[in-house]
Amino acid sequence: MWSLLIRNTSLVHTLEAAKGLPRAVVGVESGRVTYLGPEDGIASGAVGPGTEVLDAHGGFVGPGFVDPHTHLVFAGDRAREFELRCQGASYLEIAQAGGGIANTVRAVRAASEDELVEAALPRLKRLLAHGVTCAEVKSGYGLTLDDELKMLRAIRRLSALQPVELVPTLLCAHAIPPEYRERRAEYVELCARDIIPAVAADRLARFCDVFVEEGAFTVEEGRRILEAARAHGMIPRLHADQLSRMGASALAAELGAASADHLEHVDAAGMKALASAGVSAVLVPTSTLFLRQTPPAPGRALVDAGVNVALGTNVNPGSAMSENLPLALGLACLLNGLTAFEAYRAATRGAALALKREDLGTLRVGGPADLVVFSCTSEAHLPYHLGINHASVVVKAGRVVHRATGTEAADCR
Ligand code: NIG
Repeated sequence: MWSLLIRNTSLVHTLEAAKGLPRAVVGVESGRVTYLGPEDGIASGAVGPGTEVLDAHGGFVGPGFVDPHTHLVFAGDRAREFELRCQGASYLEIAQAGGGIANTVRAVRAASEDELVEAALPRLKRLLAHGVTCAEVKSGYGLTLDDELKMLRAIRRLSALQPVELVPTLLCAHAIPPEYRERRAEYVELCARDIIPAVAADRLARFCDVFVEEGAFTVEEGRRILEAARAHGMIPRLHADQLSRMGASALAAELGAASADHLEHVDAAGMKALASAGVSAVLVPTSTLFLRQTPPAPGRALVDAGVNVALGTNVNPGSAMSENLPLALGLACLLNGLTAFEAYRAATRGAALALKREDLGTLRVGGPADLVVFSCTSEAHLPYHLGINHASVVVKAGRVVHRATGTEAADCR
């Protein structure tokens, strides 16, 4: 007998075909989707006293959002930097003056693992309330062996403490730590020879990321670190072409990275390289706006070039202090030129593929019952009702893990 039946939907998006299933119901058993189809097709005996019946009240249902790019484990407060940027200071200027990532590094080094876990829990709760059932989380604010391990252990604990499934990424190459500023080659070797093997030994990260950027790491340094990571079984991904163009997209293609993220400065050759190497493009338009960057990433051209496009919040204290994934959908339409369906796909199926999670971002019989019941009739309302949350019920592995209360989920049926 099913544990859960979701009925009275406007449509169910499976993300298996372009169009959803109008007025379909969803049956769930043992944490998996067991039926998708018309209500009159439900087999007798499937629904009984043990079945929880969830009325979608005419809203649509789709897979849980997957957030493929977050830095949600951090300590400290950078609200002051936001003010400085609003007054005209650039992200790079703040970083060069000892703020930026280095500011959060000081706070993370001073925090205990318990404190990092405590600070991240409410952020995960907000992600969940916006319909996210799986999120990638990066280290990268420790930048010593012990502090990177501390961050990744915090991520492992967080995954077990709350419903959002977490995919850990080692980002020891987020910035050159201040104490290594005059001997950066030594830090690159520390990453390659000490941090990566230690993280791999404890299976603390599935991916390894490098911020290839002016003021961060060069292409050659990125290659050295990501080749070492690959040799230890981690999959490369990159912060690429965010603030300048240094060849990071070509490096992502060369290394067969899972994704190249940001891409505000990617050019036609970079897009072609990503497309032919099958590297996903992760767009994070909240930070494009937050840093007031122009132009935004060429989302339209990336889709047209045949690249798998994914969409994330990039929640972090410096360039995107927001857990609002629906806002990112709106910005992906307004800034990056995606259609509503493309933005929705990018935050579900596209994001799952960018995390090499074939099983997620889709609803299929036999697949995980990670899903969201929305309070609007189609995905078109998500970007249009800008920054507003329509997730009314969130289900993870067949269990209702969030119900919006009062007006928390906007109603536009
Ligand atoms: O993805 N670009 C580098 N890393 C983050 C920002 C981190 C921070 O400022 O704390 C990003 O935008």
